[in-house]
Amino acid sequence: MSGSTQPSGGPTKGVLGWIEFRLPIFSFLNSSVGYAYPAPKNLSYWWNFGSLAGVALVIQILTGIVLAMHYIPTAAEAFGSVERIMRDVNYGWLLRYMHANGASMFFAVVYLHIFRGLYYGSYKYPRELLWWIGLVIFILMIATAFMGYVLPWGQMSFWAATVITNLFSAIPLVGTAIVTWFWGDFSVGDALLRRLFSLHYLLPFVIAAMAIIHLWALHQHKSNNPLGIDMKGPQDQLSFHPYYTAKDLFGLGIYLIIFAALVFYVPNSLSEPVNYVPANPLQTPPHIVPEWYLLPFYAILRAVPDKLGGVIAMAGALVVLFAVPWLDTSKVRSARFRPIFKWLFWVFVVDAIVLGIVGAHPPGGAYVPIGQIATAYYFLHFLVLMPVIGKLESPLPLPDSIATAVLAKGKR
Ligand code: HEM
Repeated sequence: MSGSTQPSGGPTKGVLGWIEFRLPIFSFLNSSVGYAYPAPKNLSYWWNFGSLAGVALVIQILTGIVLAMHYIPTAAEAFGSVERIMRDVNYGWLLRYMHANGASMFFAVVYLHIFRGLYYGSYKYPRELLWWIGLVIFILMIATAFMGYVLPWGQMSFWAATVITNLFSAIPLVGTAIVTWFWGDFSVGDALLRRLFSLHYLLPFVIAAMAIIHLWALHQHKSNNPLGIDMKGPQDQLSFHPYYTAKDLFGLGIYLIIFAALVFYVPNSLSEPVNYVPANPLQTPPHIVPEWYLLPFYAILRAVPDKLGGVIAMAGALVVLFAVPWLDTSKVRSARFRPIFKWLFWVFVVDAIVLGIVGAHPPGGAYVPIGQIATAYYFLHFLVLMPVIGKLESPLPLPDSIATAVLAKGKR
């Protein structure tokens, strides 16, 4: 014992003290999510979605691990093995419905998390890298969800896999070779299904690792807040525990109620009935659509008549988000103090919803020009309006500190 000291902030006595002395886990938790972690005192419920995304990820990993114990990743048996899970495995239906609807819940909270960041300027200095890590997580989520959708090997699984993998053939010269390499065959079949299953199992753990790095970056400069101004001292802060642990638990309760309502009452409401028909390479379904959370990107892909152009536009819609911290030229973070940007934000939300609706319909009639206009507006928002409005608009005066704003609100 000589020469060593107990790390501060953790237990010093009993079994916990014994552990803490050897592995300072309790002081680490205390300084990360406990009494010793300072958070702005004005965080609203919009700040619940990060922790909810973490819960959603854990639910996906746990239900996925058990599903994988019963699932068979071969073209001949995949569809049947999923049906067996639904009918013969104890609570298999619950596991599968939780996993499928859990993916929708995960995307819903992450979309709210991203839009919260866009409204309050959370991507701005000094949180640019935090934003970037979030975007990498988002791209990994898209890849994981696509691969998961292929696994039941229904009609929609098969044809979604065909459409999406074929996108790579748009790459000049090497495209077709890349697709054949990716398929491991000359068509979508057994080899592709096995490798997608392998990657679908792997990627959530990569996402979990990225989420830890995300939190590491968050803890460096702490959370932004609805006012978008920095904490200047203890008067602006609350300890994370018990204030935000309690607030997060309340949000979790609401989340679980919605999740349970989906799983127990309308478990198939968000899925395509065609995917209950086994994959048939000889019969293309009349209308191939992805899950709801990918529809806006699908609409952007189809807005450009040329295949390569569509792929570039869809990839560009994600890439442009990485530039947002620099495209937004405003000195003020929160849209609350930005009279013009506030409106543009809501127009952008409507634009994203319109893209989703267009993506859900066959590309004909009015959906074609509407999809093209909405796609053009998506890029206009980021590439033109964000930089120009940031320079032109005069923001409202900012409060002196979080504490003064909170107290002024209390007096009213
Ligand atoms: C697995 C997915 C994710 C998890 C588990 C996660 C987790 C979290 C948590 C716990 C927080 C702190 C609480 C909060 O501000 O809500 C946070 C903050 C943040 N996240 Fe995420 N996140 C995820 C995905 C993303 C994505 C996709 C983006 C953006 C593209 C993003 C951007 C941010 C930003 C900018 C903040 C700071 C917000 C602020 O302080 O105002 N995150 N994240």
